[in-house]
Order: sequence, then C-alpha cells, then structure tokens
Amino acid sequence: MTDIFTIAIDGPAAAGKGTISKAIAARFGFAHLDTGLLYRAVGARVLAGVDPVEAAQTLQAHDLERGDLRSAEVAQAASKVAVIGEVRAALVDFQRAFARRAGGAVLDGRDIGTVICPNAEVKLYVTASAEVRAKRRFLELTGKGEVTSLAVVLADVAARDERDMNRAEAPLKPAADAVVIDTSELSIEQALQLALTEVSALK
Ligand code: DC
Repeated sequence: MTDIFTIAIDGPAAAGKGTISKAIAARFGFAHLDTGLLYRAVGARVLAGVDPVEAAQTLQAHDLERGDLRSAEVAQAASKVAVIGEVRAALVDFQRAFARRAGGAVLDGRDIGTVICPNAEVKLYVTASAEVRAKRRFLELTGKGEVTSLAVVLADVAARDERDMNRAEAPLKPAADAVVIDTSELSIEQALQLALTEVSALK
C-alpha cells in the first residue's frame, strides 16, 4: 500500500456518506475526517455568539468534541457559515494536511473532491433523493430523542441542499471524475459494497 492515499467522499446531507466513509476507513486502516464536523463546530460557536470568521480561525480540537454538534439547529448554522469564503479558507490547511497524512485518509464532506483534494486517488459522490434522505435523518434524530416531524426534516434537508449547492464558494457538486453512487434504492450494505468495490478497484 502507498503511504499517502486520499479517498474523497462528497454528497448531500444524510445520503449515507458518513457510514460509508467510516466503513471504508476501517476496512483499509485509514484515518477518517468528517469535515462537516468542522463546519458544525464553527456553527455551534456562532450560535453561542462568536463571529463566524473568528470561530473558524480559532477552532480547537475540543470544539469538535461538543455533544450538541449533531442537532438540526447546528446543522443549519453549519450550512450558513459554510457560504462564507473566509470561514472555508480558514479550514483548508487542516483538511489538506489530514488528507496527506501517512497511512491513508478518508475525508467526507461537500467539496473534498472538487476543492480540498482535487488530486485524491479515489472520489465518490454519494447521493439519494431528498425524500429518502429526509426519512433517514428523521429516524436518526428521533432515535436520539429529538422531537421533530418528517415534514420539518424534509424542509431542513431541502434548505441545506439549496444553500450548499448554490453558494458561490465550493458549491456541492460531483467532481468531473467522481464515481456517483445513488443510495435511494439501496440498503446500507448494498451501498457499502458498491463503494468498497470502487475503492478496491483503484487501490
Ligand atoms: O456533512 P454535514 O451534514 O455534517 O455538514 C454540515 C454542513 O456543513 C453542510 O450543510 C454544509 C457544510 N459543509 C461544507 O460546506 N463543506 C464540507 N466539506 C462539509 C460540510
């Protein structure tokens, strides 16, 4: 195995990229970075009153360990701070250094294959219909005890898609050379199998 090997996994919210990324990292013994957590941590600090650019520029490891980063409120705040060019710029070096670490790395997010790691050895774009993604996120949130409805979650997912795909800086889209995996009609095991087959073919 080459020492430095980067796998970029992008896609919209709740398409399954987190599950796929973790499983690929575990299978190949690579480190994994959920880059959405960086934006969520910045969003959480902004909700607590910190200026967005300052929050990104002074982000610390312990900010990524807060318990509330998975809430719907923080997700929206993350999507909002993610349109700010200076916020994105402040997070680039950390992500690129992680991508090049010895032993291999899997990064998942929105702009990994397009902006952060355009030379990644493997690029996957994991997607699914908004309805399927909303249903999955609804089950995840209610499973954790959050009180919400499917309609609210669908509206949240649609609002984030709209913002993430149409922003000027690093909008969410598949890289020209990404392999697109649509998980709408797939079980998680099937989606994972497809992703592993793609990675194995390129490794
Ligand atoms: O992957 P996630 O749902 O945790 O991401 C939260 C928000 O962060 C997402 O709506 C947009 C933003 N984000 C981004 O702009 N770029 C990334 N690489 C990862 C996340």
